[in-house]
Amino acid sequence: MNETSAAARARAAFTRRFGVPPAIVASAPGRVNLIGEHVDYTGGLVLPFAIDARAALALGPAEDGRTVFLAPDLDAETSHPGPPPRHPETDPSRRFANHLLGVLQAAGGTDAPIRALVTSDVPSGGGLSSSAAIEVAFATAWAGFTDGASDPKTLARLAMRAEHEFVGTPCGIMDMLVSAAGRAGNALRIDCRSVTWRPVPMPPEDHAVILLVDSGVTHRLRDGGYAERRAACERAEAAIGGSLRDATREDVAAATLETTDRRRAFHVVEENARVDAMVTALENGDFAGAGRLLFEGHRSLRDGFEVSIPEIDHIVEIAERRVDAGCFGARMTGGGFGGSALVLVSTPTLEANRDVIVEAFAARFGRRPATRVVRASTGAMLEP
Ligand code: GLA
Repeated sequence: MNETSAAARARAAFTRRFGVPPAIVASAPGRVNLIGEHVDYTGGLVLPFAIDARAALALGPAEDGRTVFLAPDLDAETSHPGPPPRHPETDPSRRFANHLLGVLQAAGGTDAPIRALVTSDVPSGGGLSSSAAIEVAFATAWAGFTDGASDPKTLARLAMRAEHEFVGTPCGIMDMLVSAAGRAGNALRIDCRSVTWRPVPMPPEDHAVILLVDSGVTHRLRDGGYAERRAACERAEAAIGGSLRDATREDVAAATLETTDRRRAFHVVEENARVDAMVTALENGDFAGAGRLLFEGHRSLRDGFEVSIPEIDHIVEIAERRVDAGCFGARMTGGGFGGSALVLVSTPTLEANRDVIVEAFAARFGRRPATRVVRASTGAMLEP
């Protein structure tokens, strides 16, 4: 991780490049989802937290009339004479700009040429919602720049529309909402149907922490698996004749469904219930109970929703064998098909467990996975 914050780097790089400071700088975090996976797009319950890694965006008017979007970390740059285009970029080397163009367009577009520079400490491809962080940072900066609405729901909806209409990912609202609304020390129980949320305290750091283990397999939600899961849930809802959010196991069992779609639907129904069970466990300081829910959630994603991969399954299996050694629980987190596993681990055993997991992973896959401890942090903000 860099020594200086993403926001400080964005401000400095913008000033160096354009010779004037940015009008505004905003930042927004990546996220880890504790539990409630693949339920946001059916209006379900989720329990993510914003993490201590942020994307930052420096924004200003383009005095020379030329719109420029820059991402020095990615070595990427696009420029246009006049205002930003109102359509997505199709050239692969320019696609990073779609995260910004999509937010702009969702916010009504602009006729003014602008300059925007992005930096980020949220690694991409690790399942930490690096895209949502960039979009929410930009939406926050744009709201500040134009005196627009900046409540988390508005910011999240702009970012989600950017993903749907410009980036091409049919995601739900979870990633962007927690990036916008995150609270230090807390996860958010988000009801994705009403788009309302409340904080739920994460374990005190001297008791338990969340260790992330990156499988090193890059997930690409644009690839078909994610959209296919979403379509399966929609078929299940059509067969049940109502929302999976309100459905019971009995409703799913009674509906006329393909076996695979039925498995997907069982996952959704049970996962919603696990979120509230997790809220209760956390509120009672029952970390062993919280850990069991993580293992259970993982099995459901592996066998029922079929979005896990062998690398992540292996990490979870190692943790399962180490419950008595301080691993409370573990599961894949995020959309799946790659990304990271999270392990809820008792703080005094953190280093010992980290070593065992890394070595066991290396023994099986021939490389040492990157790990990091993530802390529940604050959501999007304008930088002073
Ligand atoms: C990705 C999507 C989210 C959500 C998760 C699965 O992170 O962006 O909207 O669907 O997958 O829970």
